[in-house]
Amino acid sequence: MNFKTTEFEAAFGTLAQLPRSDLPEIAFAGRSNVGKSSLLNRLCNRKALARVSSVPGKTATVNFYRTGDVRLVDLPGYGYAKVPKSEKKRWAQLLEGYFRTNRDIRLVVQLVDMRHEPTADDETMLAFLSETGLPFAVVLTKCDKLNKTAYAERLSAFRARFSELSPELLIPFSAVRGDGVEALSAVIENSVKP
Ligand code: GTP
Ligand code: MG
Repeated sequence: MNFKTTEFEAAFGTLAQLPRSDLPEIAFAGRSNVGKSSLLNRLCNRKALARVSSVPGKTATVNFYRTGDVRLVDLPGYGYAKVPKSEKKRWAQLLEGYFRTNRDIRLVVQLVDMRHEPTADDETMLAFLSETGLPFAVVLTKCDKLNKTAYAERLSAFRARFSELSPELLIPFSAVRGDGVEALSAVIENSVKP
C-alpha cells in the first residue's frame, strides 16, 4: 500500500448519506482531539489531508479517504463535552450506524491518548469493539509529550490493560516525531491482505 497516494473522497454528515461499502475499510476512532486527523496526515505523509485543530470537535463528519483499493475512514470524535446535545446525538448515530450497517471493515484503529487512562467513552468504545468482534488495534497518541520514565510507565500500564491484545497491535504513536508510523502501516497492510 502506498499511503502517500491517499486522496480525500468525501465527507458525510448523516447515516443516510453514507454510500454502500464497496472497498475494504480501515476505520479510525477516538475521542475528540485525540489526534486522529494528525495521525492520518502523518501516515500519509501529507500536511493537510485531514484538518487538524486545537479546537476539539473539528471532525464532525465521517470522512472517506482512498489509498489504492482501500478506504481510510476518519470517524467523528466522541466525548467532547461542549457540543450541543443534538449534535452529540447526531455523532453517536453516525458512529453507531457506521459500525452496524454491514460494511467491509477490516480493522478499527482505536486511538487513545498515551498520557492518560482511557476515558469512560474510550472504554465504552472498546467494549463495543470487543462485543462486535471487529478486529482492532490500539494506537497510543501524542507519545512525544511523555518523558522517558513516563513513557515506560504508561506503556506498561497500557500493556496490562490490553493484555489480551497481540503486542504488535498496541502502538505508541507521535504525529510530531513519526513514532509508530511503520508499525501502524504494517498492521493496516496486513489487515487488508486477501
Ligand atoms: P477532532 O477532529 O476534533 O475529533 O480531533 P482529532 O482527533 O482529529 O485531533 P487533531 O488531529 O485535530 O489534533 C488535536 C490536537 O492535538 C492538535 O493541536 C494537534 O496538533 C495535537 N496533536 C495531535 N497529535 C499529536 C502528537 O502526536 N503529538 C503532539 N505533541 N500533538 C499532537
Ligand atoms: Mg479530526
